[in-house]
Amino acid sequence: MNNNIENSKERADYLRREINKHNHLYYVAARPEISDRDYDALYQELAGIEKQHPELASPDSPTMRVGGEPLTEFKHIKHSTPMLSLSNTYSKEELIDFDTRIKKLIPGKIISYIVEPKIDGVAITLRYENGILAAGITRGDGKTGDDITNNIKTIRSIPLQLHSGMPRPENLEVRGEVYMSKKGFTKLNQERHEAGLELFANPRNAAAGSLKLLDPKIVAQRPLDAVLYAVIELENINLTTHEQLINELQNLGFKTVPKHWKCADIHAAIEALDNLHNMRHDFPFEIDGGVIKVNERELYSALGSTAKSSRWAVAYKYEPEQAETTLLDITVQVGRTGVLTPVAELEPVPLEGSVISRATLHNADEIKRKDIRIGDRVIVEKAGQVIPAITKVNTTARTGKEKIFSFPTSCPVCREPVSRHENEVALRCDNMQCPAQIKRWINHFASRGAMNIDGLGDALVEQLVASGLVSDPSHLYKLTKPQIAGLERMGEKSAENLLQSIESSKKRELWRIIFALGIRHVGAKSAQTLEQHFAGMDTLMQTNNDTLQNIPDIGPVVAESITRFFQSEHNRKLISLLKEAGLQMTASEQPGNINSGLTGKSFVITGTLSTMSRDEASDKIRRLGGKVNSSVSPKTTFVVAGSDPGSKLTKAREMNVTVLNEEEFLKLVE
Ligand code: IVH
Repeated sequence: MNNNIENSKERADYLRREINKHNHLYYVAARPEISDRDYDALYQELAGIEKQHPELASPDSPTMRVGGEPLTEFKHIKHSTPMLSLSNTYSKEELIDFDTRIKKLIPGKIISYIVEPKIDGVAITLRYENGILAAGITRGDGKTGDDITNNIKTIRSIPLQLHSGMPRPENLEVRGEVYMSKKGFTKLNQERHEAGLELFANPRNAAAGSLKLLDPKIVAQRPLDAVLYAVIELENINLTTHEQLINELQNLGFKTVPKHWKCADIHAAIEALDNLHNMRHDFPFEIDGGVIKVNERELYSALGSTAKSSRWAVAYKYEPEQAETTLLDITVQVGRTGVLTPVAELEPVPLEGSVISRATLHNADEIKRKDIRIGDRVIVEKAGQVIPAITKVNTTARTGKEKIFSFPTSCPVCREPVSRHENEVALRCDNMQCPAQIKRWINHFASRGAMNIDGLGDALVEQLVASGLVSDPSHLYKLTKPQIAGLERMGEKSAENLLQSIESSKKRELWRIIFALGIRHVGAKSAQTLEQHFAGMDTLMQTNNDTLQNIPDIGPVVAESITRFFQSEHNRKLISLLKEAGLQMTASEQPGNINSGLTGKSFVITGTLSTMSRDEASDKIRRLGGKVNSSVSPKTTFVVAGSDPGSKLTKAREMNVTVLNEEEFLKLVE
């Protein structure tokens, strides 16, 4: 090793230690000591050294948190010991039974309990070999789980390297829970709403769905976190109690449950569960109960386990919180696509930490099935869902004055008749000119994920549509300053700002326009795919179902919806008005475009690439339609040259073949 590398290695080791330390301070201890800017500087320096000296890269480097190519499927890993669950209890009596059972199994022993919150997330096992995170595994069927190591590495609070200080165990297997915080969940759903994507029902589904993703780059954008609460294998360290274990997990660098209660007996544990219940909304994550664990670890083997669960711990599950209130009315909302949704208007009632006054009723069939009548006393439940639902009616409270709800046969907003489409439960208003639909449409058009027109919020859209100034998106581009300034709560200055934002939106990319049009089944992602395959709006408008279905990720339903949209004279007119207004309807130049893609291009790779293996590079080329050959010929389009290239580079120069360095190659494929 020459001096330069020696110095770089020392510096890289130092930077890794520093970054890991600050990572822990920020994500686990919540006590950051340096600014984001200083942290980024350390990170960039390390990334730079690793790029310059690929031989110094190591899997536990903080730069490796978001690594690896998308997988096609997860590998399976066998658990070293079965990953058991807990048996559930729902009452104090069952907890007393649990205590009696334990005392029978180990008579004469003095035991105490630890009560912890039961986090509503996804169970995981982490394996560390020589102190380095080697695998992250899901529960699977309890015996074998999915290898989700690359996804786990993206979770910043999980150490890639165990902290030393205490004798560091050679091999360690810990178990815990990956979760999404309530805040993170709300933000993610908000972003998904703005981007026209389906929402997650609750934080647990969001965490589970994120861990199942095959591309770690997307997982890295999900606000996941993890706490660890159990250990399977622990060498060198003797822990007699669970409380010590919690401490030791912290020493090793893990996040642990934020609060636990040490209880001398089961009665104290029951009291602790009451305390936990009272503060259940104060945790940053959803909890669905408490876990009661025997504190004395040396008793665990004597207590043993059943096929499904360990006998030294039990879960105490909270019933989903419910509240009873009066159903004041049922209103009907008209969605962007014209679907009529009944909404329960409730007498405001506190539930799970917030006051609720509306609940979803899904559709007419559900109202009939549950026999929900206006004026009824109803039971509402949230159970981790975003929008509460009516679970049942308290029929004993009926007075006879309740009214059966009849679903409107005409749209409550435009009065046009509603219809039920084939194979659908929902009723729809098919009138494209319905003000309710127009309002939603304009809201969607202007939203951050679509045309991103700053300042065009709900209230303003409401006024623009109600005043008749706007009945389709093209009218936005015809608005004048006096028209806007004349609206309620608007003045000259705000009118100017809005006009400025509308003007800026003319420069948006094609996919945003496609998405903003509100074509059924076309979300932001499909719109991006379409932009990559069409030169502009004109070619997209002329396309047919077959061509569309040949595009990866565009299925028959989406294809049909697109062609149907563009068949409508009304919609074609709208496009031409938008074009006249100055919107740019051509695809932006990007390497992924079919026109400028890698179809028909042949590559030869020589030398070592620093960011990927040659196999990975070949995969990328093939995925974009290009070919990879082993020898250079005059027909070769590009030779990609990494460090220490061989004779192929010389040959390429002789034959006048274009040579790309790694950076140029990455630009082409990414
Ligand atoms: S202890 C060997 N503690 O709840 C480890 N589990 O319904 C036994 N859970 O499978 C589990 N919070 O996924 C334990 N503080 C906590 C927990 C917890 C959530 C999950 C875990 C378990 C499930 C049982």
